[in-house]
Amino acid sequence: MAIPGSASAAGPDTASPWWLDGVVYQVYPRSFADSNGDGVGDLQGLIDHLDYLAGGPDSLGVDAIWISPIYASPMLDGGYDIMDHTTVDPVFGTLADLDRLIEECHRRDIRVILDLVMNHTSDLHPWFVQSRQSRTGPFADFFLWRDPSGWDRDGRPEPPNNWLSWFGGSAWEWEPRRQQFYLHTFLPEQPDVNWRCAALRAEMWSMVSGWLDRGVDGFRLDVFNAFLKTAEMPSNPEISADASTAWDSQEHRHDKDHPELHDLLAEFRGIVDARPGTATVGELFTSDVEAAAGYWAPRHLVFDWVLLETAWTAASFRAAIAAREAAWSGRWPTIVLSNHDRSRHVSRYLHTLGRRDRATADAVAKAAATIELTLRGTPFLYYGEEIGAKDIVVARSRARDRAAVAMAGWWNRDGSRAPMAWSGGGNAGFTSGTPWLPIPRDATSRNVDRQRASERSVLAHYRRLLALRRGSVALRTGELALVDVGDPDVLAYLRRAGDEATLVVVRFGLRGGEIELPPAPGPWRVVLSSHDLATPTVGSRIAVRPLEAIVLECVVDAIRG
Ligand code: NOJ
Repeated sequence: MAIPGSASAAGPDTASPWWLDGVVYQVYPRSFADSNGDGVGDLQGLIDHLDYLAGGPDSLGVDAIWISPIYASPMLDGGYDIMDHTTVDPVFGTLADLDRLIEECHRRDIRVILDLVMNHTSDLHPWFVQSRQSRTGPFADFFLWRDPSGWDRDGRPEPPNNWLSWFGGSAWEWEPRRQQFYLHTFLPEQPDVNWRCAALRAEMWSMVSGWLDRGVDGFRLDVFNAFLKTAEMPSNPEISADASTAWDSQEHRHDKDHPELHDLLAEFRGIVDARPGTATVGELFTSDVEAAAGYWAPRHLVFDWVLLETAWTAASFRAAIAAREAAWSGRWPTIVLSNHDRSRHVSRYLHTLGRRDRATADAVAKAAATIELTLRGTPFLYYGEEIGAKDIVVARSRARDRAAVAMAGWWNRDGSRAPMAWSGGGNAGFTSGTPWLPIPRDATSRNVDRQRASERSVLAHYRRLLALRRGSVALRTGELALVDVGDPDVLAYLRRAGDEATLVVVRFGLRGGEIELPPAPGPWRVVLSSHDLATPTVGSRIAVRPLEAIVLECVVDAIRG
């Protein structure tokens, strides 16, 4: 499939599939909406709020939701530790609730993407419970068991190699019953599965088909590039003793990105591709943008973390966009500023600006959204960002994110997983019970109800952007070219498809100024500004106020320059 807007594009694609020109919204289900008063979000709560997302007169207007894991789990890693991939955890509801969710989503033209965690399970998964009993039996080979490399002077077993757990310490845990170690790239309670075991593979594929049969439209693949390790499991090369984390002290040559992974992915993608209208997105585990692009295939997106890791300066964003456009030429990237693993972008950008006030938070949220929804690629919004949500502060001693607490010195991810603020009422309308994490302190003023009532809110800006994008081929699928407008504090780029041209200009700093617009055969017209609702036609220059984002259009045969 030719990708519009890329070097190989034949022309504008006006009927692109949803994974290509849609907008995806990530729901962290524990924090979205609680319907039964137990303080934790659930599927019924999500169903109750679907009109907010799409299908109603004042909906946000997204095309798909990605739901972080909802399967049976002891929740040591926020549900990414699964003890049964085929059931819904009671805290979220039942399979019947999921069926209703899928039906209600489809009624509103929302696609449903489930999170698939297939690198590891929970240690409470029946496969592992049996696998750890003995070296024989049907599940003996489902996990990565190895003999010790030797015994120390006190008679203790020594791990098979130097591999590390992402959350800290050795990646190996001893099991006395088997007199062997098992591998865990994450917590010791998250054993890695053995993809070279045919029976395990068959179980996984049958689970994938089962969800497709149930009507889901796709999957987000957790840390997929770690599925296969070098079979002989040699130690990784040590590269730096003073890296900022132990994980980064090694080159991960043998514990991820195995060349045979492409064959494994082809099997998985074949199952998905057999169902029309489905798609997937892969989460790349600690790799770079070229690696992400290398795993891409039509219908199978791959996250890269370039934008999410870019600092709030025009120069950084320019460099990040240039790097992405180079790596993703002829392919289709994703656009991500926040997710459940990182600090929310408004908090990060405010930190860079040295500001904490509400007006700056709103302005930076709108400017960032303008970039996110006008770049080339499929945007993935993180719940709450559309009201400008910031991180909450949860002391390490009270953290629910056990996995992050295990990782010495790492940020506690609870900060970006706060309950959604629906209203200014009790517990922000999230729950009638005691919320599992603190309600954001600014929820009385920063909430959905309040922002729905104001045309100037962050939410209203997101809705306008989504509507603008939906109606513009240039924004959905057009080519992207960076433009130099002669002001280092202003990021500018053109999106073009056929005779449509859209110019996006964003000022990152707190001092305004005029810029020169690129020459065009006709006048530029402002179609959206983050600072006011007027849409004037402008001449060759335009004032761009502090943190202002402006989208301009010019319908022409060709743009000079
Ligand atoms: C990636 C997920 O995004 C993260 O939340 C989780 O901790 C790791 N995978 C391990 O499952």
